Amino acid sequence: MNEIVVTGQSGRSRILIGETLDRLGHYLPKGRTIFITDENVQRLYGHRFPQGEVIAIGCGEQHKTLETLALIYDRLIAAEADRSSFIVGIGGGIVGDVTGFAASTYMRGLRFGFVASTLLAQVDATVGGKNGVNFKGYKNMVGVFNQPEFVLIDIGLLKSLPPAEIACGLAEIVKHACIADAAYFEDIERHGAAVAAMDESVLLRLVQRSVEIKAGVVNQDEREAGERRKLNFGHTLGHSFEKTLGISHGAAVSAGMVMAADLSVARGLLRKEEKARIVVLLQRLNLPTALEFDRQAVFNALQKDKKRQQAQMHFVLLKGLGQAVVETIAIEELGRWLLKDQ
Ligand SMILES: NC(=O)c1ccc[n+]([C@@H]2O[C@H](COP(=O)([O-])OP(=O)(O)OC[C@H]3O[C@@H](n4cnc5c(N)ncnc54)[C@H](O)[C@@H]3O)[C@@H](O)[C@H]2O)c1
Ligand SMILES: [Zn+2]
Repeated sequence: MNEIVVTGQSGRSRILIGETLDRLGHYLPKGRTIFITDENVQRLYGHRFPQGEVIAIGCGEQHKTLETLALIYDRLIAAEADRSSFIVGIGGGIVGDVTGFAASTYMRGLRFGFVASTLLAQVDATVGGKNGVNFKGYKNMVGVFNQPEFVLIDIGLLKSLPPAEIACGLAEIVKHACIADAAYFEDIERHGAAVAAMDESVLLRLVQRSVEIKAGVVNQDEREAGERRKLNFGHTLGHSFEKTLGISHGAAVSAGMVMAADLSVARGLLRKEEKARIVVLLQRLNLPTALEFDRQAVFNALQKDKKRQQAQMHFVLLKGLGQAVVETIAIEELGRWLLKDQ
């Protein structure tokens, strides 16, 4: 087991990599624990949860809402949860985001931790202290920064995860390598087949390195004033693809990274061969690298991006493999680049 620490304004978060769900009890304080999970995870793993009340939410992004929070508050009140209760979210990124927000706000905040059960939650969503829900179609519009006391990462839980969900996590793993570590990128290239075959020891190494990278970024800039923006590589366009095409986050980010690499080449920051390596690696991991899309619709969605600041927006580009730069680009220039082939 390896431990990585994230330090935020609200406190320290211990990321426990290579632990097992069966040892969750060792990390719980004395007193009452209430578990929040989703229906899938409850069905698959509920029998392995320690003793305690379980609140299961519905599955899917449509449940990441204030209505779900209201249901959780109702259940917490019915269970007579108080300031001494401890909350653990067991599930993917949705359970994490909802649990973190519910625990941070119920009675002005209870102590909480996570067990991350998807690859995306393990390398991304549960690390870094962002919690929140969607509101009126705006993603993650309402939320808080608050670090969980611990995040337990059990690689064994990934065995039951559908391939499409694994691919979502792999897209974030490739993102981490692209923005921060060329040697890591090569490592993934070398072990592409083992990764695709879900080799546990290789996966564990990737999760470890990705958490190190994300934790390192968050430790420098928890509130996303600078360094943390680099984690948005592939996401600006990715979010527009997700919205306009209704495809998964991982698929959208994968194609978004290829386009951001393309813009990096166009601006003379990245070599063509480097972009080609990104494309080949994503393809080996069964991620899409080119999408058919309505460029005008994507541009319209981009203009609504909440990260936009007036006529310009922050856009993450690559200055070589393993090194990201955040550039301020005029929306107009992005539009010209995006609509150039029309
Ligand atoms: N807070 C952050 O910093 C942050 C970062 C990235 C993403 N996110 C959020 O995370 C969410 C996506 O997370 P996700 O991809 O984990 O989605 P998810 O939580 O919806 O999980 C994906 C699916 O897998 C199921 N599942 C979970 N664990 C399983 C297991 N071990 N075996 C089989 N099935 C399992 C779930 O029930 C669900 O149907 C999005 O809402 C996104 O906004 C948050
Ligand atoms: Zn993402």
